[in-house]
Amino acid sequence: MIDSGFLNIALPKGRLGEKVYAMLEKAGYPCPEVLGDSRKLIFENPDAGVRYFWVKPSDVAIYVERGAADLGVAGKDILLEYEPDVYELTDLHTGVCRMAVAAKKGFKDDPEKTLRVATKFSHIARGYYAGKGRDIDIIHLNGSIEIAPILGLSDVIMDIVETGTTLRENDLEVIEEVLPISARLIANKAGYRFKYEAVKELARMLENN
Ligand code: PRP
Repeated sequence: MIDSGFLNIALPKGRLGEKVYAMLEKAGYPCPEVLGDSRKLIFENPDAGVRYFWVKPSDVAIYVERGAADLGVAGKDILLEYEPDVYELTDLHTGVCRMAVAAKKGFKDDPEKTLRVATKFSHIARGYYAGKGRDIDIIHLNGSIEIAPILGLSDVIMDIVETGTTLRENDLEVIEEVLPISARLIANKAGYRFKYEAVKELARMLENN
């Protein structure tokens, strides 16, 4: 079982995690070693009562759902795709981007044909097109989704758009906006009860920063 003396926090490896760590540091939960050059993945600062782990962004919700972390930071895209059984505490207003459908410039949808959709977000895509009553064939990919329509693997993609650079550089364009996305602070349900004061205080400090 995890040490109850600490708040265990799963951070998504990469740019978003670094931004969120900076927010946590400013909010009074520093652990400067986190940003060091080592290959270490777990860091703790007993004075601030925190232990941070770097994990793959799409795995954060798994650590939190199963209680290996009390808290974590996950994009709304991941929460909608995997629907983990966690509490969503706060919109951190960072990692802001959008989920969109994109296609090659000039693409014309033929409603008579099944639409081939390449995506990492199969569950979100199924729900979105079911809501429109549109027949689709999901092609589940794990990355570099933009290549799919270029090579004729799919008609469209459903993916995250942040600056729009990846689409532009691959001659694709947004044809439908699906949803706005941002990073959320999430909590394990049992941890939320057992460490209520500490969790609420951290969420409050983050919101006030
Ligand atoms: C994400 C997303 C797009 C890109 C969008 O990919 O899947 O490819 O970022 O960003 P932009 O609008 O600023 O260009 P990520 O970097 O996570 O890599 P991936 O190919 O593994 O999905």
